[in-house]
Amino acid sequence: MRFTNQIAVIFGAGRGIGKAIATRLSSEGAKLIIADILIDEIEKVKQQILDTGDSVEAYTLDISDEKKSNLCIQKIFNKHKKIDILINTVGIVGPSSCPIENYDLEDFIQVINVNLTGAFIVSKAVIPIMKKLNYGRILHIASIAGKEGNPGMVGYTASKAALIGMVKGLGKELAETNITVNGVAPGLISSEMNSETDPEMLSYMINKIPMKRPGTVDEVAALALWIVSEEASFNTGSIFDISGGRATY
Ligand SMILES: NC(=O)c1ccc[n+]([C@@H]2O[C@H](COP(=O)([O-])OP(=O)(O)OC[C@H]3O[C@@H](n4cnc5c(N)ncnc54)[C@H](O)[C@@H]3O)[C@@H](O)[C@H]2O)c1
Repeated sequence: MRFTNQIAVIFGAGRGIGKAIATRLSSEGAKLIIADILIDEIEKVKQQILDTGDSVEAYTLDISDEKKSNLCIQKIFNKHKKIDILINTVGIVGPSSCPIENYDLEDFIQVINVNLTGAFIVSKAVIPIMKKLNYGRILHIASIAGKEGNPGMVGYTASKAALIGMVKGLGKELAETNITVNGVAPGLISSEMNSETDPEMLSYMINKIPMKRPGTVDEVAALALWIVSEEASFNTGSIFDISGGRATY
C-alpha cells in the first residue's frame, strides 16, 4: 500500500498501459482520478475499480484541449486540495509505414498535439499545485521510437523525441523542488494501440527485440509505480527503458 492517502491523476487510463497503471495504483491505496478521450472505455475502467470497493473519479476529455485539461486539474485540486501524482500515458501512433512524401501535415500536427502538446498542457497545469505542496511525481510515457527513430512514423517519432527532451528539461528545472519528472520509453508492448499498426511494422519491431516478444502492460505498470512512489526520490529527468533488451543506451 505505497500510495495510501495520495491523489493520483492518470491521463490516458481508458485502456492499455494507462489502465494497467490505474488498476495497480488503486490496489496500492491511491485515490484515483482517471481521464481519457474514449467515454465508454473510461467508464468501464471506472466501474471495474468501483467493483473492487475502491473509489475513483473519471473525466472524458481530449488532453490537447487546454481549457478542458486545465479545468479538470483545477476541479481535482479544488476537491482534494492536492495532487501527488500525475501520469500521462496518452499517445496516438498516427500514420505508420508511411514515407514522409505521403505523410499529411494535418496528421503530423495532430500527433504532435496529442503526444507532445498534451503533455505540456497537463504538466503546466499541475506543477504550480505540486510546488505549493512541495511534493510531486510526474511521469510521461514516451517511446523507444523517440530515442532510436522508427522509419515511416515521422510524427510519432518526432513527438516522442520531443517529449523525452521535455522530461529532461523539466526534471532539471524542478530539481530543487520535491517534484520529480521522469519518462518511460517502452519498446513494443502488447496493447490495443498495436491493433492499428501495420503488420509489417510490427514484425520489424519484434525482430529488433532481443527477448523476441512484446512486453506486457503489467510489466510497464510495475516500473511506473516505482517511479511515482516516494521511494524514487533521486531520479528526475530520467528516461527509463523497458524494451526486452532493445535499448542499448
Ligand atoms: N504499446 C506500445 O507498443 C507502446 C510502445 C512505446 C510507447 N507506447 C506509449 O505508451 C502510451 C500508452 O500506449 P498504449 O499501448 O497503452 O496505447 P492505447 O492506445 O491502448 O492507450 C492510449 C490511451 O490514450 C487515449 N487517448 C488517445 N488520444 C487521446 C487524447 N487526445 N486525449 C485523451 N486521451 C487520449 C486513448 O483513448 C487510450 O485510452 C502511449 O503514449 C504510447 O505512445 C506504447
